[in-house]
Amino acid sequence: MAMEWMPILLECVQNVGRNIAPLTKTANKPGPSLGVGAGGDPIRQVDLAAEKAIVDTLLAHEISFILISEESGIIRYGDKPEENYVIVDPIDGTTNLTRGIPFYATSIAVSTKPELQFVHAALVSDLSHNVTYTAEKGGGAQRNGRKISPSTEDSLDEAVIGIDLNTYKVREIAPRITGLLEKAKHIRHLGANSLELCYVADGTTDAFIDIRGKLRVTDTAAAWLIINEAGAKITTPTGEPLNARLDPREKVTFVAAGNSRLHKIILDHIKA
Ligand code: IPD
Ligand code: CA
Repeated sequence: MAMEWMPILLECVQNVGRNIAPLTKTANKPGPSLGVGAGGDPIRQVDLAAEKAIVDTLLAHEISFILISEESGIIRYGDKPEENYVIVDPIDGTTNLTRGIPFYATSIAVSTKPELQFVHAALVSDLSHNVTYTAEKGGGAQRNGRKISPSTEDSLDEAVIGIDLNTYKVREIAPRITGLLEKAKHIRHLGANSLELCYVADGTTDAFIDIRGKLRVTDTAAAWLIINEAGAKITTPTGEPLNARLDPREKVTFVAAGNSRLHKIILDHIKA
């Protein structure tokens, strides 16, 4: 019988909230050096506490799995680890968390193979607002259990468009989107890309773009399914289906939009 993942993922995120609560107030204070995570960024205590909550919850349910985490990298648990790949960004938006900006998330995706296209269950939880986005393949996407759908906005004058330009390669990247920046009236970047993709899934915003080549697949895997199940569109910047190897070092670039018309308009304004 197929396993019921959603109650377990919801329990994981409850335990993340509990484990990180004592750390959130002091997260900006200097702590012991914990090295660099598998994704390439310095590890903070709060990231490890969140990851531990997820792993401990899965082990308490006697689940065999291969963990693919931004912090600890790839670790095999249980007798038959190849049965489940669990792709985790324990805290997406750590800088926001440490600075007291209430916009950060836990992202967990479950896949049958180490490839994005095989993700079948997903959760992204906005930890400071108790809002959780979920999706299972073929079952639509939900926000706190209620079905969501994306926006129908297709005008660059009206659309709220997230763009992550947070990169040292800005001289290379920015000229590719000058046409879009000139026409779009409402540009945002909030600092937790998994959650910003969920905002496209439920129509809070109309599009989100990350063409830097810097974002890890661990931050994107869960939101990828949520976007697709909500009926929004996500492709590479040249319009190909998005796929990637599930590995903490693997990077993705994408254009996500609430509907195909806006998606095409945005692609037309991006230089390859
Ligand atoms: C970061 C956030 C941020 C993006 C960075 C990511 P992290 O995730 O998603 O919005 O600009 O590229 O690394 O490091 O806090 O998990
Ligand atoms: Ca992270």
